[in-house]
Amino acid sequence: MARAARQYVCQSCGAVSAKWSGQCDACNEWNSIVEEASTSSAPKSLGKARGRQVNFVPLDGETPESPRLITGIAEFDRVLGGGLVTGSAILIGGDPGIGKSTLLLQAMASLAKSGASVAYISGEEAVEQVRMRARRLSLADAPVELAAATSVRDILTTLEKSDPPRCVVIDSIQTMYVDNLESAPGTVGQVRASAQEFIRMAKARGISVFLVGHVTKDGQIAGPRVLEHMVDTVLYFEGERGHQFRILRAVKNRFGPGDEIGVFEMTDAGLAEVSNPSALFLPKEGQRVSGSCVFAGIEGTRPVLVEIQALVSPSPLATPRRAVVGWDSNRLAMVMAVLDARCGLRLAGNDIYLNVAGGLRVQEPGADLAVAAALVSSVTDVPVPGGAVAFGEIGLSGEVRPVSQTDVRLKEAAKLGFERALCPTVSSRKPPLAVENISAVHELVDLFDQAENKRSAAGGSIG
Ligand code: TYD
Ligand code: MG
Repeated sequence: MARAARQYVCQSCGAVSAKWSGQCDACNEWNSIVEEASTSSAPKSLGKARGRQVNFVPLDGETPESPRLITGIAEFDRVLGGGLVTGSAILIGGDPGIGKSTLLLQAMASLAKSGASVAYISGEEAVEQVRMRARRLSLADAPVELAAATSVRDILTTLEKSDPPRCVVIDSIQTMYVDNLESAPGTVGQVRASAQEFIRMAKARGISVFLVGHVTKDGQIAGPRVLEHMVDTVLYFEGERGHQFRILRAVKNRFGPGDEIGVFEMTDAGLAEVSNPSALFLPKEGQRVSGSCVFAGIEGTRPVLVEIQALVSPSPLATPRRAVVGWDSNRLAMVMAVLDARCGLRLAGNDIYLNVAGGLRVQEPGADLAVAAALVSSVTDVPVPGGAVAFGEIGLSGEVRPVSQTDVRLKEAAKLGFERALCPTVSSRKPPLAVENISAVHELVDLFDQAENKRSAAGGSIG
């Protein structure tokens, strides 16, 4: 008699092995391997039976533009690439408590009020809890169909009615289970199978599906990174604990630009849109001190100005401390090495703290010059000359390379009252503010030296 086969599945990457081990061979994750019932026997060969012909068509042809649902929450719509595509599957990941359920409830209520039929299916919270949240958000009157359920079969049967909703939220995919699998909800097998069913339904019936996914400590959507390949769009909802700002980031989008962000603020009455994020990540007027430089960055399709703060102080430790919040620590090591090798700026024996204000994570290499300016400013104790914004990518030989969309960055800086910018060569003939061309890092350091000389000369004449 056949015995149910066992298999061992890594809950982090989905790799399957025949025996248990403490560390996954595929992704090197520790303690992630769990025993599950085998879902299928080895695939049989296709044999000799003949299939149907597949039709080839030219690339150019009539394709109707996918209609989009506009939720009415502008930041959310922009991250989706201009609204919600009918029949698309969207994974939205984030830490527990970051506000995923709140965001989706607000989006669904807004959609429902605009006349679209929507359903919200909660596997985590009871109906009363969701109702309570809706009351708190003053959305209780929105015609959202609400249910608490976890069985994929029940949910699919319910949605198969003749008049299905346009959009469904599954909160969360880790609580869902298909009853022909033996393993517990939340395991890779269950999550993958449940997601597959929902995605199939989305495509077949033209229902847009949001799948909420929890994230593990190290920022992966728990277990199934496999999910990221299955869905059309992957959004991450992120924010630093203790900050009220939340950032919705598109990391993959088949229907719009990747890397787009939407900025929200968590308030007593839910998530409020922040349509001008630059104002939020900038130092207050008159607070321009040494060790701080404003980076004129681009997030997705939009310019965002953020303050980068550095603190350099002599270290009593044999291995000096490096703490980086909101930026890549390897990139910091590189900028420090270039400053050392090309400008003789010795940073090695110092503790270095680098912080991107407001809880934003900057990923652009274009932030190099602003980071270098903040570091030099902290070391020399001279504020950035003229309170300038900075951007540019630093290369290993100390050159500063141009980055994309210079004009957009300069325009945003001018709009927010900056009068000066430090950046590599600018193509536009009439920039909206004074531009100081920096084509190598030593020019940046010289600029600080001049400012310091000027300051000490001025101090000397007074004293
Ligand atoms: P929630 O949407 O439940 O998070 P997730 O679904 O990602 O786990 O958000 C919960 C947090 O948001 C909770 O800590 C309370 C806070 N919150 C507010 O500050 N204001 C509000 O209006 C709501 C509804 C929640
Ligand atoms: Mg939730």
